[in-house]
Amino acid sequence: MKLIQQEIFDHTGIIFSDSKNYLIKSRLYPLIQKYGLVDFDELALKLKSQPKDGEILLAFIDAVTTHETSFFREFIAFEMIKEVILPNFKEKSGSLNILSAASSTGQEAYSILIYFKKHFPKIFEKTLIDGIDISQNSITKATKGIYNSIEVSRGINASDIHKYFTIENRNFHVLDLFKQKTNFFSANLLEAFNAQQYDIIFCRNISIYFNEENKKKLFYNVSNHLKAGGYLIVGAAEIVDSYIPNSLEKQQFQRFRFYKKK
Ligand SMILES: C[S@@+](CC[C@H](N)C(=O)[O-])C[C@H]1O[C@@H](n2cnc3c(N)ncnc32)[C@H](O)[C@@H]1O
Repeated sequence: MKLIQQEIFDHTGIIFSDSKNYLIKSRLYPLIQKYGLVDFDELALKLKSQPKDGEILLAFIDAVTTHETSFFREFIAFEMIKEVILPNFKEKSGSLNILSAASSTGQEAYSILIYFKKHFPKIFEKTLIDGIDISQNSITKATKGIYNSIEVSRGINASDIHKYFTIENRNFHVLDLFKQKTNFFSANLLEAFNAQQYDIIFCRNISIYFNEENKKKLFYNVSNHLKAGGYLIVGAAEIVDSYIPNSLEKQQFQRFRFYKKK
């Protein structure tokens, strides 16, 4: 399994140790079958000759990445934004630009927009959110903004579901007024990527998959897209101080750690 572990690392930066071989097997076996390959070594070899947008490579990246997310995940982050960040933005003119880095299937970006629409309608009007993820399937799903009943019920109460989604064929479509404020695109956050400068960057629950060098690369790359005075928000359980560039300083809201660009 060493060859395929190396391919996963080379293409996504994600470390799979031998103890996770069962996971690689269950996630990648469908590809072996679909493309009529003999084993994981042959898949690894095939991946080497794939262009960046090659069908097998994109399917491989989708399969090996973990897309676990939910609406309003780690709600303390939203409370912190309300108490600490938004008071500074209320008076400012111009747009509020937010990046959902490792956006997965879009729940994080739509949660921010729903939260603002509900509690800060004026700020909602000037908010625009980009979402970046390495998984093309996740980007497609985020762009569509369509979720099943289990997905919406993870984080959103019934009355808000009916307020902010329409129901078609038992699926929940986020309202167009939210979709219009988003732009999802795929990129590898471990490489320099093309994007604007943001006031707030969410970069949650991705660094846990990386080794120390790649954690540093990740936070260096995303911080390069943060405006002076902008905020970087990491996962509530992530201890990442030593991987954050010196251009950012640590801040705290209750027990929640986040970072501000000097
Ligand atoms: C566990 S999800 C986290 C989603 C969301 N940030 C949250 O906290 O709910 C991790 C996401 O990181 C993405 N990812 C993994 N490696 C990546 C990379 N090198 N560049 C960009 N996205 C990556 C995966 O595709 C996946 O959707």
